[in-house]
Amino acid sequence: MGKHDIKTILVTGGAGFIGSHTSVELLQQGIDVIVVDDLSNAHEKVIARIKKILSLYENEAHQVKPGEIFFYKADVKDEAALRSIFSRHTIDAVIHFAGFKAVGESMEKPLDYYENNLESSIHLLKIIREYGCKKLVFSSSATVYGNPETAEFVETMPKGAPENVYGWTKWMIEQICSDVVASEPGWSVVLLRYFNPVGAHKSGLIGEDPEGIPNNLMPYVAQVAVGKLEKLHVFGNDYNTPDGTGRRDFIHVVDLARGHVAALDWIKNNAGLEVINLGRGASSSVLEVVQAFEAASGTKIPYVIDPRRPGDIDEFYANPQKAWEILGWRAEYTLDDMCKDMWNWQTKNPQGYATNLAGIDES
Ligand code: UFG
Repeated sequence: MGKHDIKTILVTGGAGFIGSHTSVELLQQGIDVIVVDDLSNAHEKVIARIKKILSLYENEAHQVKPGEIFFYKADVKDEAALRSIFSRHTIDAVIHFAGFKAVGESMEKPLDYYENNLESSIHLLKIIREYGCKKLVFSSSATVYGNPETAEFVETMPKGAPENVYGWTKWMIEQICSDVVASEPGWSVVLLRYFNPVGAHKSGLIGEDPEGIPNNLMPYVAQVAVGKLEKLHVFGNDYNTPDGTGRRDFIHVVDLARGHVAALDWIKNNAGLEVINLGRGASSSVLEVVQAFEAASGTKIPYVIDPRRPGDIDEFYANPQKAWEILGWRAEYTLDDMCKDMWNWQTKNPQGYATNLAGIDES
């Protein structure tokens, strides 16, 4: 094994939506994954289902022997718990997903959001430093661009003013990471700015399981399609877009997960800090998503036009060039693929992870 080989990764929030899909991709590369998750917005079942995915796809020709998964139920703010994990395993790099992420709730509980998201990140950085691994991928968001003049967001643009507290926590953690990297040599950090992750693993075993009524478009549409919700509320059709509805850069969560594997490859061989967009570089409107989902599911999605949702902007999408140049990564899946996989997940798990699947020990 070479000096910079990455054998073991700590994944905070690894039982969550993006964390679980990323864990699968890492494990399938033969990397050992240590999931730390307090299960405040995730299910322990995810771990068994990840193992099931590994066994189902082990025979695919390109597969190496999958890595091993370890699970610790712990809060990232708990320094003692983190220390004991770092003492038990030799961790080569960390991917930090854990955090509160509900935009609306973040405006009602700003102190909880700042405390949780900032404190956990600061503790994690201190412990990473203490144990000398100094390699980190941070889960950031396109929200840090704020509301600039152009719809295409490129990394060379200055950060803007996010529309909500959640966005500010991402903005601040980015700043903390870059100050830490500048303070001493030896750090290797990638800040990944996600656009709108949707879809699910093709197995239908893991996917997004929002608590209560979904805030985001695609999970809401999926629940209308499956009959759990009556109709979609389209938030405004008077935006400056061709059909008047908002446009976003939807990206398949498996593409996004693979972007993390590519970022780790960069981290292995480079030092310093990079900021990289993970998006497809194209946008779709709310009504285009509805149509694509209707086609993928063979259902009708009834909708009504409601007033705009505060804080929403007309359109934004990624300039994905830097991800291609630096990481050799680009998104492969289409909007139709995202809808098809989302529908597969939704129909197999109408109650999310509360659904028990046959053939898996989910106790
Ligand atoms: N929309 C609806 N009806 C819904 C939900 C959403 O019409 O029930 C519309 C929104 O108005 C918007 C589009 O669908 O035009 C996408 O909305 P989402 O809530 O799915 O996604 P956002 O772009 O608002 O949110 C994303 C990320 C957040 C991040 C935010 C920053 O999911 O994590 O971008 O702007 F903070």
